[in-house]
Amino acid sequence: MVDIQSIKQKFGIIGNDEMLNRAIDTARQVAPTDLTVLISGESGVGKEAFPQIIHSLSARKHGSYIAVNCGAIPEGTIDSELFGHEKGSFTGAHEARKGYFEVANNGTIFLDEVAELPVSTQVRLLRVLESGEFMRVGSSKVIKTDVRVVAATNVDIPEAIKKGKFRQDLFYRLNTVPIIIPPLRERKEDIYMLFRKFSSDFAAKYHMPILQLDQEARRMLEDFRWDGNIRQLKNITEQISIIEKDRMITPDTLRRYLPRAGAPNLPVLYSGDEKSGIEFTERELLYKVLFEMRRDISELKRILSEVIDENQHPSENLQKSQKKFLSDFDEDQLFEADHTFEISTNRHKKAEQEDYEGAEILEESLSLTKREEDLIRKALEKHHGKRKAAAEELGISERTLYRKIKEYNI
Ligand SMILES: Nc1ncnc2c1ncn2[C@@H]1O[C@H](COP(=O)(O)OP(=O)(O)OP(=O)(O)O)[C@@H](O)[C@H]1O
Ligand SMILES: [Mg+2]
Repeated sequence: MVDIQSIKQKFGIIGNDEMLNRAIDTARQVAPTDLTVLISGESGVGKEAFPQIIHSLSARKHGSYIAVNCGAIPEGTIDSELFGHEKGSFTGAHEARKGYFEVANNGTIFLDEVAELPVSTQVRLLRVLESGEFMRVGSSKVIKTDVRVVAATNVDIPEAIKKGKFRQDLFYRLNTVPIIIPPLRERKEDIYMLFRKFSSDFAAKYHMPILQLDQEARRMLEDFRWDGNIRQLKNITEQISIIEKDRMITPDTLRRYLPRAGAPNLPVLYSGDEKSGIEFTERELLYKVLFEMRRDISELKRILSEVIDENQHPSENLQKSQKKFLSDFDEDQLFEADHTFEISTNRHKKAEQEDYEGAEILEESLSLTKREEDLIRKALEKHHGKRKAAAEELGISERTLYRKIKEYNI
């Protein structure tokens, strides 16, 4: 049997924690069977490598391996994605299509974020797990398939069952062999090792010397809560690698990167279904902000409309321009054009400070964009076109500056 060290090497798994080793050992032992495996653990602990380990050590290793992120597929299409559909079974189904369970016959399917499956899909999944049978959407013909299922979740499923979001029978069926990946805060002795690995990777990537930690900073890193686990450690190491010029990292430097670093190291409850309290990845954070902005903009539009309607004697021009602003402003554009993001955020913040007086908001918002462009030009002039220095002066990243230069055609 392949030893645990070579599995770690092959899949880039760093760490020597006993629970981690036990998880890898379970994966190795269960791999040659056809048993269903459920991998649980908080977000960012490293679940993704496990279904690959299992597939590669199984007799199915030459068959297909399909990873499906159940949380990323819209509810309306998930049944068709997983089980296929017949021509004409719904609007837009111009052709019949095989689903993953048909395509992965003799292989492995990894159902990531399995707790996100709609309950109706859970019923279909249970059936295929129990009998190997399923039907395409819009068909009554039973199809047989031979697929091994490995699922993963960062949600506390027993809790989801209580809330009626997850079927108990499916949980028992999926959880035939449970593999639990421990959170990083419970594997303190791995933290420094991971930090060193990531620093050396990023040093190579960005052509910089490797970061060093002094004793105190190392202790701080090891005592941190790491709610976002290894993903968070990796992100923070990358940020420090890029930003800090001095490669010897002290607690003072580190503190700037660790959110709520002063908070006591209290045990946290494992509740994955809401990501509250967990460090968001940059993209998640961006989406969150965008959604909040979208809501606020709708609210702003509503208030502006009211102001216009209530205004007894508005000058005709002003009213026209206000109405035009409202109809021109399509908040959906925010989602399509990410380059508008920062400017819009500024507008939004500014708007919040105003007393919701339509015309003033409009004027202020537009001038902000102009002012931003002017400032960028000035900073570039001052630093003779050196972007790095200009970005520093402006207090934005070089990447953002680069984007804005392109955007404003500077
Ligand atoms: N033991 C490890 N050694 C090195 N890198 C790791 C280890 N575990 C995880 N990582 C890295 O951390 C990041 C997060 O891991 P992964 O995507 O597997 O998390 P996850 O458990 O699937 O989280 P989520 O539930 O949010 O999907 C990845 O970049 C992965 O490469
Ligand atoms: Mg994952």
